[in-house]
Amino acid sequence: MTETLAITAGADRSQIYAEIEPQIQVLIGGEIDIVANLANVAAVLREAFGFFWVGFYIVKDGELVLGPFQGPIACTRIKFDQGVCGHAYTTRETVVVPDVGEFPGHIACASASRSEIVVPIFGKDGNVIGVLDVDSDELDDFSNTDIFGLERIVRMLETTLASV
Ligand code: SME
Repeated sequence: MTETLAITAGADRSQIYAEIEPQIQVLIGGEIDIVANLANVAAVLREAFGFFWVGFYIVKDGELVLGPFQGPIACTRIKFDQGVCGHAYTTRETVVVPDVGEFPGHIACASASRSEIVVPIFGKDGNVIGVLDVDSDELDDFSNTDIFGLERIVRMLETTLASV
């Protein structure tokens, strides 16, 4: 297993996604433990892009509970009808919020967070089992490149889950 990420200096965001994807595959492909894989994916995304906060909320006991993450401390429990994470859970779709101040019900775990993207994670039975949440301290920081890149990474995580 590699211990450092290899990313071309000066690469743009879409190139970085292309470069980290095979490295994530190596990292998580040989490991079936979900916490280990979520933790490493959060670390890769934070290191590769320098996002303000990257982490997972996992469906437990009828709500979203904080899982592995990188960044400042965060709220531990989110109801399904709350926040951007709850919206992604309920709609089963990726949610991009260019300005969190404009999103009704946004949960401000950290005031420095300005924009956000949340990608639902599906289990073998098709139910949403958690979400990937990425926060930026810049307004309007997420584009189709991030939707495409992060959804591909979540699909890789789902594949490791399906093999358990
Ligand atoms: N802002 C999220 C809550 C989680 S934190 O950003 C880490 C939301 O509104 O769901």
